[in-house]
Amino acid sequence: MDERPIGLMDSGLGGLSVMRVLHQQLPKESLVFVGDQGHFPYGTKSQDELQHLVLNIGHFLVEQDIKMMIVACNTATGAALPLLQQTLPVPVIGVIEPGAIAAVHHHLKTVGVIGTASTIKKGAYPATIHRLAPQMTVYSHAAQEMVPIVEHGLTGTPQAQETVNAALQFFDQHPVDGLILGCTHFPFLAPEIRQKMGPNVRLIDPAYETIKQAQATLTAQELLADQDAGTVKLYTTGDRADLVTGAQQWLAGQFTSCDHVDL
Ligand code: DGL
Repeated sequence: MDERPIGLMDSGLGGLSVMRVLHQQLPKESLVFVGDQGHFPYGTKSQDELQHLVLNIGHFLVEQDIKMMIVACNTATGAALPLLQQTLPVPVIGVIEPGAIAAVHHHLKTVGVIGTASTIKKGAYPATIHRLAPQMTVYSHAAQEMVPIVEHGLTGTPQAQETVNAALQFFDQHPVDGLILGCTHFPFLAPEIRQKMGPNVRLIDPAYETIKQAQATLTAQELLADQDAGTVKLYTTGDRADLVTGAQQWLAGQFTSCDHVDL
């Protein structure tokens, strides 16, 4: 048994979509989250810049005495997962391979992937899917413009629906059976995405498979916590009030503390 926290990071509020699943499924675990709002957005940055930022956050989380890190950001996973795994003294899990595995489990013929400009350019989703299921057709499409809609608290507005409709127009010509939400901000736009894609397209949120993998690793290494309820500590490199507002909305206010940190 190990009561040390699990560390998570994202460029902003997207990571909370992974955290809410983690908190639901493993409520005894304590969590420490860093939202790098001071450097938002990640999706338009170079691989070098991303590696520098993400590694810095990884070191901060290790200083918080974490027992595992979950990279709750597709862009950061694509740019820095192997680097983090080689450098940090704890197990590190990303979201891309779990998202690809989830798509393969659903036995879809044709799957779409939406993500940031960086994630789509990097091509890790199609590469991983084709390694697991060479016959599957994958259509990847960048939807960077959907990210600030979530970050700026505009979900549920006509502007959100218009942005999603325009960003996903690509799929009018490229029909799919399923769509991987390959950016952790996108599950918060699920109603708008569902409205655009229609009821027959399966929306795949990689968070569920990611947490399954995290649970398997914690179990195998005897690292699971066994306490009444874990604490949830939030840090932002940006404006504390923005993360508080996001966490009230997306974590139903279930957090212990929220502080600014300069990284
Ligand atoms: N939430 C992030 C992802 O999963 C990045 C969004 C951004 O900062 O561009 O890729």
